[in-house]
Amino acid sequence: MTQGLWAHPDNQSHRYKELGFWIELAQLLERGLFDFMFFADSYGYPDHKRELTYREAVYAPANDPMLIIPALAAATNNLAFVTTASPVYELPFPNARRFSTLDHLTNGRIGWNVVAAGGISGARAFGREGILPHDERYEQAEEFMEASYKLLEGSWEDDAVVGDKAGRYYADASKVHIVEHEGRYYRMTGAHSCEPSIQRTPVLFQAGSSDRGRDFAAKHAEGVFLKAPTVEALRAQVQDIRRRAAAFGRGPEQIKIFTGLSAVVGRTKEEAQRKLDSYRSYASREAALLTYENATGVDLLALDPDAPFVNVKTEQGRTHTERYTKHSGTVQTVRDVMDNFASKEFRGITVAGTPDEIADHMQHWIEETGADGFNLERYVLPGGHRDFVELVVPVLQKRGMFRERYEETTLRERLFGKGFARLADTHPGAAYRKLGE
Ligand SMILES: Cc1cc2nc3c(=O)[nH]c(=O)nc-3n(C[C@H](O)[C@H](O)[C@H](O)COP(=O)(O)O)c2cc1C
Repeated sequence: MTQGLWAHPDNQSHRYKELGFWIELAQLLERGLFDFMFFADSYGYPDHKRELTYREAVYAPANDPMLIIPALAAATNNLAFVTTASPVYELPFPNARRFSTLDHLTNGRIGWNVVAAGGISGARAFGREGILPHDERYEQAEEFMEASYKLLEGSWEDDAVVGDKAGRYYADASKVHIVEHEGRYYRMTGAHSCEPSIQRTPVLFQAGSSDRGRDFAAKHAEGVFLKAPTVEALRAQVQDIRRRAAAFGRGPEQIKIFTGLSAVVGRTKEEAQRKLDSYRSYASREAALLTYENATGVDLLALDPDAPFVNVKTEQGRTHTERYTKHSGTVQTVRDVMDNFASKEFRGITVAGTPDEIADHMQHWIEETGADGFNLERYVLPGGHRDFVELVVPVLQKRGMFRERYEETTLRERLFGKGFARLADTHPGAAYRKLGE
C-alpha cells in the first residue's frame, strides 16, 4: 500500500510465500471478528521500468491468492475471503468453476472482486496486442457477468443432485442445463462443472469509481469499495451509487459500501505519530509514481510539473485520474498531484492516534457518509492489524459499533442477514435461475 514499506523492519510481508504467514494473519482477523480478508490482484506489473520494479518489488513478484484460500478456510471457521478476478483476462467457464469450488470448500465464505483491469503488461502476457478502450472493458465485463450467472445460477437446479448410493443415482441429468452463450466477447456451450454451492454466485464486489464503473457497481455489486478525501465527497459518492442502484431496481440496502482506512494505533497519540513517521520514512516516491502510471497509464514525471492537471484522458483506470480532476473541487498542478499521490498512494482515510481517537474517526465517517464499513489497509503486516484487533476492536465493541461474536457463517448472510445466502431476487443475476424453463 505504501511503496518501499516492504523494507521496514516491522514488516513481515516478505513472508508472503509462507502458508504460516497467511494462516497467522487470517486467524488474527478472525480473532478480531472481521467480516472478510480481501485479496487485491492483477496480472499487470510496470514492465517498462524493470530495474525500479524489481528493486522496489512494485507489483512483482506476486503469487496467486486464490490458491491460498482453501488453506485459510481450513484454519478458520468464520472469516470470509474476497479475491479478485478480471473479465479482461479470465474466461467465464473456468472462473465459475474456481469460485464454485471455493464456495464449496469455504462453506459459503467467498466473495469475488470484479475488476475491469487496464494493465498493458498483463494483456501482453496473455498474448494480446493491448487492451480494449475503457468503457468497452466494462461492456466486456457485463457480458462476462451474464455468462457467469448462467453457469452459477442457472445450470444446475437445486434438486439436481440426489446422491442416492443405494439406488446408484448421483444426479438427474434433466436438471443440469447446458449453457449456450454466444456474445460479442465470449462463446461457450456446456453445463457448469460444479453442483450448486451454498451461495452459488460468490458475493460480488467492485472498486472502479469511473462513471462507467459506478454503473457497473450499481447493477452488479453487493459490496463496493469507495475512497474520497473528505466526508462530503464520500457522502456524494455513496449517494450516487445508491441512486444508480435504484435505477436498476435494487434497494439501497442491497449494496454495502466500504471505504479505505489506514489506522496507526498507539497507546498515546505521540506513539502513534512516531509509528506513522517511521512508516513514511521508508516510502519510495519513485516507486509510488510508478504505481500511479501502472494504474492510470499517466507518467506524471513526463508532464510539466507547473501545468494544471486537467483534461487528462486515459483508457486505463480512471479512478485515480478523476480523483484529482472531477472530484477534488480545485484545479491542481501536476506537482501537487505528484506530492499528494506520493504521500497517500491508494490509501483512503489515514488516522494515527489512540484507540479512542481512531474509533471517533470511524464513527464520524460512518455517521456522516452513509457508508457501511471499512477496508483496513496495511502499513506493516501483521503488526498493524494486531494493534487494531487488540486495541481498537474492544473500543468499537464497547461503543456498540461492532459485533461481539460471529453469527452467520456465509459471507452474504453476514452482510445482508440470515436467510440471504443467495443473490437477492432483484439482483440481475437472479434472472438466469430458470435456464431449464
Ligand atoms: C479498494 C480497491 C481495490 C482494488 N483492487 C483491484 C485489484 O485487485 N485489481 C485491479 O486490477 N484493480 C483493482 N482496483 C481498481 C479498480 O477496481 C478498477 O478496476 C480500475 O480502477 C479501473 O476502473 P475505473 O476506470 O472505473 O477506475 C481496486 C480499487 C480499489 C479502490
